[in-house]
Amino acid sequence: MEALRVSHKSLSPSSVQAKYPLLKALLVQVLSFVVCFAFAVIAKKFYGYVFIPFTFLLLLLFHSFLSLLISLLLKSEWWWNVIAFIFPIFVSLGLYLQISSALSLVIFLFLFFVFGTTLTTRVPYFPSHSSLSERLLEFFSDKEKLQLLDAGSGLGGLIIDLSKARPDWKLTGVEISSFPWLFSFLRSKILRRQNVKFQLGSYEYLNFEKFDVVFAYLSPVVMSEIWKKVQYEMVPGSIFMSYEFPVDGEPPSFEIQVSEKGAILYVWQM
Ligand SMILES: C[S@@+](CC[C@H](N)C(=O)[O-])C[C@H]1O[C@@H](n2cnc3c(N)ncnc32)[C@H](O)[C@@H]1O
Repeated sequence: MEALRVSHKSLSPSSVQAKYPLLKALLVQVLSFVVCFAFAVIAKKFYGYVFIPFTFLLLLLFHSFLSLLISLLLKSEWWWNVIAFIFPIFVSLGLYLQISSALSLVIFLFLFFVFGTTLTTRVPYFPSHSSLSERLLEFFSDKEKLQLLDAGSGLGGLIIDLSKARPDWKLTGVEISSFPWLFSFLRSKILRRQNVKFQLGSYEYLNFEKFDVVFAYLSPVVMSEIWKKVQYEMVPGSIFMSYEFPVDGEPPSFEIQVSEKGAILYVWQM
């Protein structure tokens, strides 16, 4: 754990860029906007037709493609390339539709409280496949009083599903994002699941030692970090599972195909 914190303190500029992709995305938009604005001013000065709708659309497309190009040149991840492309279009659409500032604020706050932590964690919320809980129930069918952690529990779907089928298991979800955590917490209270605990916070500050199983569905960018923590804290005989994302250079003990369309569940026996 300490080793992880120390490594965060000594981030190089390139790792800062990798850790804060929003800064890169902002740079992409500022650069492409400046170029497009200069282009528009020059075109208006010499030809005088920039704000005719047709030419505005062309300029908008130019802006989007330019953002995409800069994003690609800066080697952003693919989803940031998509965002770079659609961002100018959505901003223009918002201005065109004259969305009220109050509504914009509500949408912004909602998105911020659901996805805001992604800016630092680089792990957005998306649910795992619905058949995952069935596979886990099958896999651990003979285990009684299992202590399982979902590191990054999102809306709590997986933990809630497991808790219904196995009231003897002790299930913990830890979630860094406030709205998803609140949703899962209320869900467990309304459903009166006694064997479930949802904690608000980062799994980085939770000791994995007491868990028999740690499950993670995170993102490729954090796998090597969580792997260090797993190795440092998990006890022999315990199990670490990662849905969809393997750990570079660390072959799993085995893999489980969750469903025909679902991703692979990688399993490491400690
Ligand atoms: C892909 S979702 C998976 C949700 C859930 N485990 C499932 O299987 O449906 C990843 C979740 O991890 C959360 N997360 C990311 N980094 C985290 C951290 N350091 N500590 C706790 N939660 C984190 C995100 O906010 C997101 O809700």
